[in-house]
Amino acid sequence: MNIYPFLINEFYTKYKTNDTPLRIFFAPGRVNIIGEHIDYNGGPVMPAGISMGIYVIARLRSDNEIHLKSSLHKKEIILKTEDTFTFYNYDGWTNYPKGVFQFLKNAGYKIGGVDLLVYSDLPGGAGLSSSAAVELAFAYTMMQLFNSDKTMPLEKLAVLCQQVENKFVGVNCGIMDQFASAMAKKDHAIVLQCDTLAYEYIPMNLREYSLVIMNTNKQRSLAGSEFNKRREECELALQIINEAHQYKYLCDADLEDIDIIKDELIKKRAKHVISEKQRVLATKKYFEQGDLVKVGEQLNESHQSLKVDFEVSCIELDTIVDLAQNHPACIGSRMTGAGFGGCAIALVATHQYPNFKLEISEKYKLTTNLEPSFYKCAISDGAHEIKY
Ligand code: GLA
Repeated sequence: MNIYPFLINEFYTKYKTNDTPLRIFFAPGRVNIIGEHIDYNGGPVMPAGISMGIYVIARLRSDNEIHLKSSLHKKEIILKTEDTFTFYNYDGWTNYPKGVFQFLKNAGYKIGGVDLLVYSDLPGGAGLSSSAAVELAFAYTMMQLFNSDKTMPLEKLAVLCQQVENKFVGVNCGIMDQFASAMAKKDHAIVLQCDTLAYEYIPMNLREYSLVIMNTNKQRSLAGSEFNKRREECELALQIINEAHQYKYLCDADLEDIDIIKDELIKKRAKHVISEKQRVLATKKYFEQGDLVKVGEQLNESHQSLKVDFEVSCIELDTIVDLAQNHPACIGSRMTGAGFGGCAIALVATHQYPNFKLEISEKYKLTTNLEPSFYKCAISDGAHEIKY
C-alpha cells in the first residue's frame, strides 16, 4: 500500500493548505534478534530496523513557531524556537520532540519554524521501540530541514536521542533502540558492540524462513517498571565480581566469574547477561555459516534465560513463545525488547506461515483471552527522507 497520499491528506486535514512543499521523514521501529538487556551491560546486540515506524510530515513556516500535531493523539502544541523546552507530564507525546529540539539546541544545532504532523504505523508500548523511532524521526527532520550544511552523523544523533530518553523523558534505557532506528539497513541486522559503538551489518538471509513478529497485545510500560531494577541488579553483580576483577562492564566477565556472587538472584541476573553475550556471538557465527536451525536454537535458549534467570518475561510472552517453539513450522522463538509484555519473534517456514498464524492465534486466545497480532514485516533502512 502506498501510504504517502494518506499522509499528505492527513496533513491537510490538520493544517491549512498553502503552496509550501511538504517533506516526509521516516524512522523505523526495531526488533532485537538477540542480545537482550545487554546494551547497558556493554556487550553485543543484534537489532534490525522494521518497515513499521514513525513518519514526520513537515512544512516550513515563515515565523519562528513550531506547530506539533499528531494524527493519532489529540494533544497539540505550539512552541517558539527561542524558548527553553521542559518536560511536563500533561504534554504527553510532545515531550519527545520537545526533548529532541532542546538537546539539538544544546549541542549547537539549529531548529526553525515548521508545521509538523507525526503519524505512526508502529504499535505503541509493544516493545518495538516506538519512542526511539519518534525521537529519531524528529531529530532527523530537524537535521535535514535546518542543518543540512553540517548534519550530525547518524551514530551521534542516536546518542543524542538516547540522552533525551535518559535525561529529559527520564527512562534509563541503553543505546540499542536509538542506534537501530538511526543506523538500520535494509535486509540486514546490525551487530552493535554497545561499549564502543563499533558495528557491522550482517545479511539477514533467511532463505525459506520468515521473521515473524508476534504481538501478545499485553501492553508493557518501561518507565517505572522493573527495567531500572534490572539495571541496578546488574550494577550490583558487577560490583561483587569486581572484588576480584576490574571489569568496566558486566559483559566483560566470564561465566566462571559469577561463582563469587552469593546472592542467588543477583547471580541469576549475571548468568543471563554473560550467557546472552555468548549467544549473540554464536548467532552471528551461525548466520554467517547459513545455519538457521542453530540460529533458532540460540533464540530458544535466549528466551529461557530471559524467563528463568533475568525474569523479564510474562505469562503472555511465555505462552506465545511456547506455542511457537512447539509448532513444526518454527525453528526458534523468543521475546524481544525489554519484556513484561509486548512482542516476541519467531523464525517460521514461509510456506507454512498462514497455518502457523492461525493455529498460534487460536491457542493463544484460549489461554490468555487476548487476540494476538502478527506482522511479517520487511527489514528496513534507518532514519531517512521519503521521496514521494
Ligand atoms: C529496551 C531499552 C533498550 C534495551 C532493551 C532490552 O528496549 O530501551 O535499551 O535495554 O530494552 O534489551
